[in-house]
Amino acid sequence: MSGYVVVGTQWGDEGKGKIVDVLSEKADMIVRFQGGNNAGHTVVVNGEKHVLHLLPSGCLHPHAKCIIGPGVVVDPFVLLEELAVLESKGMSTKHIYISDRAHLIMPYHILLDQLQEEKAGANKIGTTKRGIGPCYADKYTRWGIRAHDLIHFDAFQKRLAYALQLKNEQIVNIYHGTPFDLEELIARFAAIRDQLVPRIIESVHAVNQALDEDQLVLFEGAQAAMLDINYGTYPFVTSSSPTSAGVCEGAGVAPQRLKHIIGVVKAYSTRVGEGPFVSELHDEIGTYIREQGNEYGATTGRPRRCGWLDLNVVKHACILNGLTDLVITKIDVLSGLKELQVCVGYKVNGAVLDYIPSAVSDVEAAQPIYRTFAGWDEDISQCKRYEDLPKQCQEYLSFIEEYTNTRISLISVGPDRNNNIITHALV
Ligand code: GDP
Ligand code: IMO
Ligand code: MG
Repeated sequence: MSGYVVVGTQWGDEGKGKIVDVLSEKADMIVRFQGGNNAGHTVVVNGEKHVLHLLPSGCLHPHAKCIIGPGVVVDPFVLLEELAVLESKGMSTKHIYISDRAHLIMPYHILLDQLQEEKAGANKIGTTKRGIGPCYADKYTRWGIRAHDLIHFDAFQKRLAYALQLKNEQIVNIYHGTPFDLEELIARFAAIRDQLVPRIIESVHAVNQALDEDQLVLFEGAQAAMLDINYGTYPFVTSSSPTSAGVCEGAGVAPQRLKHIIGVVKAYSTRVGEGPFVSELHDEIGTYIREQGNEYGATTGRPRRCGWLDLNVVKHACILNGLTDLVITKIDVLSGLKELQVCVGYKVNGAVLDYIPSAVSDVEAAQPIYRTFAGWDEDISQCKRYEDLPKQCQEYLSFIEEYTNTRISLISVGPDRNNNIITHALV
């Protein structure tokens, strides 16, 4: 039983893609369990950048079977585009499969995501407009269409006819948008079906069998704890569970199968889209971090909001996920700052909190409580051993371990696959 989980501990974009790629070298199977192409995971191999949205970040290692799991929402057109990009680079995609239980993002989900955001005006969430929320909503109202419906195309057409009638009513009556034509949609799916069907498998059996055989199965999270539908800053969240609990739901495995639960922590904080961000910086330090860290969205290109590391947030992620290990990324970006602040609690309406309050209005009202650390000037991107890091940097890292009571197993000091300091072997 060797299930490894990699999850984001903040608001996404922690560098999960890079870490999954590093760990995948030894993996037998990589499974995405939630989210969809709202994710943007960047992997850099020998200077070449690969941005993956729907495909698991381990897919650059063709020896490992990659599964887009039951809890993922799949835009089949995006999937084919991503596969084509890999193939155009001469890479194999034969090892990439889709769970037959995964729900399909339909073109009307994408339109509804856009229309809902436009109509929300000042109340918008700042979604990636990839149709994620509307697709999950249909899953739970039970109007969804799943990958296996593409195999049984008669059923697909029947389900689509029913769902489209309801969706077109919403599009026309609520948003005054243009309805979709059933025959045209069926034709679009008929045209791509043959490329998808060979990749659609029953995945629950395959994943559990791999675990039974003691294979190394890596469960790859997208998004992060603060975007969790239940435990993030609701309603400024995504529509799935990006925590280790989401693995059980979204991959069909039992909790005791998960051996190592690895939380990826960016050495500072970023957020894309709307919603409260207690340690956000609106000054030149925020701009410095954005530029040094190239903090622009991998999916939408939006500039990411930047701020100090918030350990109240990371601790929330430790508790929700049961993290066994932390991986710290992008610590190289902080070089050159004289002093660093770390948020260690919130002041909310006179009370000091060391947890994340439930009401978004309380998080909006929260004032950060900071602890100050000395900065360092050295370029640390070529460091290979912990001892090579400046003392101030070591102090910053030790405090993270101490505050979260969780060990740091890997420190990433650059975007490339090889820019790592391993402090405890993970795989
Ligand atoms: P993900 O969504 O969690 O996979 O993260 P993203 O790929 O959206 O954003 C992380 C960005 O930081 C990517 O551009 C990575 O190439 C880059 N990155 C990852 N680790 C490091 C690191 O340790 N240092 C630096 N400078 N960049 C990194
Ligand atoms: P990765 O996997 C950062 C954010 C969006 C928006 C909110 C809801 O790359 O870390 P959605 O389209 O999911 O309905 O948008 O969630 N968001 C992300 N932010 N990284 C991501 O993924 C994100 N996926 C969604 O910006 O605020
Ligand atoms: Mg990302």
